[in-house]
Amino acid sequence: MEIIKELPRVEVGNRFLRNLLTDCNTHGRTKHLDLNGSIECYKCNDAKIQKARDKRLKIDSQNMKALMTTKMILKGVSINKGRFSDWQYDETKNAEQRDKIAQLQQYSESINSDSPNLIILGRTGTGKTMLANAIAINLYLEKEQSLPSEFDSYNQQDFYDHTCELKTSCNIGSQARARWSKSQESEHDYLRNLAANELLIIDDLGAYDGHAKDRERIAQIINLRYKKSADLDNN
Ligand SMILES: Nc1ncnc2c1ncn2[C@@H]1O[C@H](COP(=O)(O)OP(=O)(O)O)[C@@H](O)[C@H]1O
Ligand SMILES: [Mg+2]
Ligand SMILES: [Zn+2]
Repeated sequence: MEIIKELPRVEVGNRFLRNLLTDCNTHGRTKHLDLNGSIECYKCNDAKIQKARDKRLKIDSQNMKALMTTKMILKGVSINKGRFSDWQYDETKNAEQRDKIAQLQQYSESINSDSPNLIILGRTGTGKTMLANAIAINLYLEKEQSLPSEFDSYNQQDFYDHTCELKTSCNIGSQARARWSKSQESEHDYLRNLAANELLIIDDLGAYDGHAKDRERIAQIINLRYKKSADLDNN
């Protein structure tokens, strides 16, 4: 290596550090760092750091994607149960339906603490669960968008914890009852955790939950979510 110019040099004991002007295969004539005889191009070094950073960001983002999917499954939201893009329009009521679906889609993309509650009514098989799921998926995707551009996935393990839960009304009843025999979480804690979600979707409201105690539980959840958005999907 031909040293064109030796820039300021620092010595500490038998160690030294100096800047050199020399040729890099990639960057041509440019500043190099010589650390105890090991010479590196500053620009190559910057590129190496950038590459390592990009790789870390990519891994972090893959980790967060996996975390999101796991969390969605645990919370009853399914990637396969339908999205807005899968919705098929009824030829006969096209315009009206398009308008409603567009409204729901808009709703799903701007959910916050001021969002109104929503009740979806319709006969069995008309796509209520599918739409509820599509709304939930969009909220998770919106949340994903809000991740800071630089983050450490290890420190973001609770990022999706209270995003959205999709539960059937009858499931809430059975899971709440199951808490009676367990000491780790009381029924009230269970309901409070449910209510703590940014979006709570109660599917099949009124189906198989006819007991007064079941209805009381739903009322309790809605109470806990007072001034928060609770979404009700009703048959
Ligand atoms: N407009 C639609 N476009 C595409 N699939 C639909 C539509 N409506 C219903 N489905 C499908 O029909 C099935 C039943 O819908 P579902 O959402 O479970 O109905 P509901 O909850 O109202 O009883 C699901 O597989 C759903 O994806
Ligand atoms: Mg349904
Ligand atoms: Zn270089």
